[in-house]
Amino acid sequence: MSRIAYVNGQYVPHNDAAVHIEDRGYQFADGVYEVIAVVGGQLVDEEPHLKRLGYSLDEIEIEWPVPPAALKAIFREIVRRNRVNDGIVYLQVSRGQAYRDHAFPQDATPALVITARSQAPKIAVRQEGVRVITTPDERWKRVDIKTVGLLPNVLAKQLAVRAGAYECWMVDVQGHVTEGTATNAWIVSDQKELITRQPSHSILNGITRQTVLEIAQSANYRIVERSFSLQEALEASEAFLTSTTSWVVPIIQIDDTRIGEGAPGELTRHLQAQYDAYTAAL
Ligand SMILES: Cc1ncc(COP(=O)(O)O)c(C=O)c1O
Repeated sequence: MSRIAYVNGQYVPHNDAAVHIEDRGYQFADGVYEVIAVVGGQLVDEEPHLKRLGYSLDEIEIEWPVPPAALKAIFREIVRRNRVNDGIVYLQVSRGQAYRDHAFPQDATPALVITARSQAPKIAVRQEGVRVITTPDERWKRVDIKTVGLLPNVLAKQLAVRAGAYECWMVDVQGHVTEGTATNAWIVSDQKELITRQPSHSILNGITRQTVLEIAQSANYRIVERSFSLQEALEASEAFLTSTTSWVVPIIQIDDTRIGEGAPGELTRHLQAQYDAYTAAL
């Protein structure tokens, strides 16, 4: 079955799907995106993803390409046309096509691309846990906006791949962990506090992060939203990461240091089970 993409109002074969060479997303990374998980044919946390899309668009002054209600209809149609049961929906909005000039164009129409693809759940990494490496965070100062300008994330992720690790945690100039290249970072202290960096301009406020926080709150876990140093992470009893495509993944080693017992931690396991149950119940 061939894949179908949505491009500016039309459903087209994936292989023929294209935007113009003077699209500002292509030339300036002048655009934003969202990735939404599909589980059992259902979109996970659609509303919060749309809310964050609205925030990203507002922050860089791009109009909604179509209203949120129309986006929801396209999401369902693209999932149906690509027969996605478990996978992702990808959405990208750029400022549109215009004569190349840095300043905003007067008359460009935002360009909208939406794709969907099947993706097997990452069962092995969730069960066994993963290793992460670390690198200095060299991104710009507004990574709370989900822009397609991801070059530092790409380079850092490639470091992880070369090191045989699952993810790369980025570390700020104070020696504090910001987040992973496409995931949020969490640790558990030996007092069983769940620690994750507070939302600010320095991290993307992950939708999975927000849902896991809600789950942890209702389970009465002790939650502390604050930054933590790499040293603190190395000494933590547990560590894990969260994202739309990974869900909750235990971390068993950071750089050369084994975390806790070098196996997925108990609190991580609980949260993971509850997050899995949350998606299964959709
Ligand atoms: C830099 C960064 N941090 C965190 C996340 C996790 O966010 P979410 O849970 O919304 O997928 C992502 C997701 O792509 C990301 O790119």
